[in-house]
Amino acid sequence: MIDQLKKLQEELNSTLVTTKEELEDFRMKFISKKGVFTDLFEKFKELPGDQKREIGQALNEVKTFAQARFKELASQIDQVNTATDGADVTLPTVPFQAGSVHPITQTYFRVIEIFERLGFNVKDGPEIEDDWHNFTALNFPANHPARQMQDTYFLSEDKDSLLRTHTSNVQIRLMKDNKPPFRAIMPGRVYRNEAISSRAHCFFHQVEGLCIDKAISFKDLKQTLYHFSKEMFGKDTEIRLRPSYFPFTEPSAEIDISCFICKQKGCKICKQTGWVEIAGAGIVDPNVLENCGIDPSEYSGFAFGMGIERIAMLKYQLDDIRLFSENDLRFLRQF
Ligand code: DAH
Repeated sequence: MIDQLKKLQEELNSTLVTTKEELEDFRMKFISKKGVFTDLFEKFKELPGDQKREIGQALNEVKTFAQARFKELASQIDQVNTATDGADVTLPTVPFQAGSVHPITQTYFRVIEIFERLGFNVKDGPEIEDDWHNFTALNFPANHPARQMQDTYFLSEDKDSLLRTHTSNVQIRLMKDNKPPFRAIMPGRVYRNEAISSRAHCFFHQVEGLCIDKAISFKDLKQTLYHFSKEMFGKDTEIRLRPSYFPFTEPSAEIDISCFICKQKGCKICKQTGWVEIAGAGIVDPNVLENCGIDPSEYSGFAFGMGIERIAMLKYQLDDIRLFSENDLRFLRQF
């Protein structure tokens, strides 16, 4: 039994614990009622009387040592826990959830990036606008049916204060407040009193473009939008211009790009035509230049306007404009 006690003493000396679980194992083995000492004391009772004195003393010493050792180890574990504020530093961290940039904002950034490289500045304008900047200066005659092209949210009874229906108001502000030449894009939110559906919303975003200088012509417009389309939708993209009407441009055109989804074989997005519309554009009407104090005999220019949602829907192949404003994290996390 003396040998057994010696071994036990060595084991107590060499046992190290680093976690609470190991400390508990130590306690179960050496300190608790089910531990080794209970067995040893049982055996001790059966020893012949002449051995009891010597072995009893040794047994008590080892037991006292075990208790002291347990206290020492427990205080070590305690210190480790206090140092880490009770946290288990060995656990994996809680995953950090970063937000993502909204797809509309991403599309904004991309559009700005492309036009900035062509020397276009970015200009901001008000969303609450007056009739003159939103309509009259843009050559919409009073009571002209063209005003009904855009269902307007009016903010005052005299209909002079309204939520802008397009970003073209910023063209006017830019031309009135500055001297040409200009090359600018004007992104922002616009509002229309329309029934909300998968294709239309009562608010959405546009980017307006304006380039005014001496001797700017239709070919500059065409080349600019051609370059933009290739950068935005891929280098194989072709563009097509269809004659159209806007009060503020003459001539006016609707810009289509070749459907990059089906490669013009015909699909749902391009309604089997191989082409999708991305913008309205044209040569700025001389009346608009005059309204802003610019001499049309000296300066000319082109303008265009495109819907950001439309571009984002094409780029990400989405079929419902409402997704952009519903704040559904399952949608937003995909970008
Ligand atoms: N403002 C037009 C719209 O909201 C888009 C547009 C068309 C803007 C032609 C332009 C342009 O600057 O030249 O439908």
